[in-house]
Amino acid sequence: MIVEQNVSLAPHNSFGIVAKARELVRVRSEADIVQLLADPQLAARPKFILGGGSNIVLTGDVRPLVLKVEIPGRRVVEDGPRATVVEIGAGENWHEAVRWTLDQGFAGLENMALIPGTVGASPVQNVGAYGVELQDRFESLDAIDLQTGRIFTLDAAQCAFGYRDSVFKHPPPDAGSALGMGLAGRALILRVRLRLPKPWKPVLGYADLERRIAETGIRNPAARQVFDWICAIRGSKLPDPRVIGNAGSFFKNPTVTPEQCTDIIAREPGIVHYPMPDGRVKLAAAWLIDACGWKGKSVGNAGVYEKQALVLVNRGGATGGEVVTLARAIQTSVYERFGIRLEPEPVVV
Ligand code: EPU
Repeated sequence: MIVEQNVSLAPHNSFGIVAKARELVRVRSEADIVQLLADPQLAARPKFILGGGSNIVLTGDVRPLVLKVEIPGRRVVEDGPRATVVEIGAGENWHEAVRWTLDQGFAGLENMALIPGTVGASPVQNVGAYGVELQDRFESLDAIDLQTGRIFTLDAAQCAFGYRDSVFKHPPPDAGSALGMGLAGRALILRVRLRLPKPWKPVLGYADLERRIAETGIRNPAARQVFDWICAIRGSKLPDPRVIGNAGSFFKNPTVTPEQCTDIIAREPGIVHYPMPDGRVKLAAAWLIDACGWKGKSVGNAGVYEKQALVLVNRGGATGGEVVTLARAIQTSVYERFGIRLEPEPVVV
């Protein structure tokens, strides 16, 4: 285990924001954590877990000890008649892991192709796209407690998945306070097991996919075909972080009660909304932002992507402060016009 000093984080955050880690340790296995915890000084330091850096906004140099998760590994742990279970190291790239499962002949992750970030980060915000969320394919994960070094396993219920949410996004209980039930900063995810059910059935309910079916006439696409469609769809509307820095959707899609929705429709007949199974109504945050005229606008070098208003981008040399200022301005105008508070998806560091 080597503690590196003054490491540039620009290549390690998908926004491409320039910032440094005062000290950084690359974690390649649980042994690295055990070794780190055996050093009383390092063990006592506040820590920041960094995966692919695709869901963070860096507003300055990171003072806590950065644990850069680079744990490798891809294997099939079970291949039964009802499902295949694969286990993937937290440091593996998510998209490459999706491609690997398809190369092995296992379908089920194709709708989540091209989501940026690492496998270890995927449960943290319960990544999802085009009708499939991580929780739909999740079996269990192993994590290590950063205080005690104890390794433990969590199933889906214990991860408390929600829309872009999990136990890993919430702070642990405070000393002296019963508030907070989470594991944020407390546990480092080591590996994730995904359950790919058999027989496979494609999930094709999203309008973008229905359009592809209509255009190509392919009514029963293979998983590889769905994967290719998803890559093409995402490529046409979302910026490639290797070219234009971004963190995917910057805000969550808000939900409102049917009464609130009726009220908003009366004022804004064009509003894009989807009924949810729980009776609430989901509104398209991209539409709300677009309606406020933000598409293509900038604050300093931070801007709103021209093809998808939900994505904030680094137009070159943006600071985290500029991204946060832009995000706040968007929140204010959406609140003033629609009375809806947009909740950011990325973590501001
Ligand atoms: N729209 C606009 N203006 C825009 C873009 C979209 O009005 O600039 C409207 C369109 O009417 C569109 C609707 O908003 O029908 C929804 O847009 P889209 O289908 O692009 O999906 P989204 O709700 O904006 C969500 C996820 C994405 C995921 C897609 C597909 C969130 C926060 N975002 O976006 O996830 O890829 O659905 O499933 O839930 C991410 O989380 O980083 C992410 C990219």
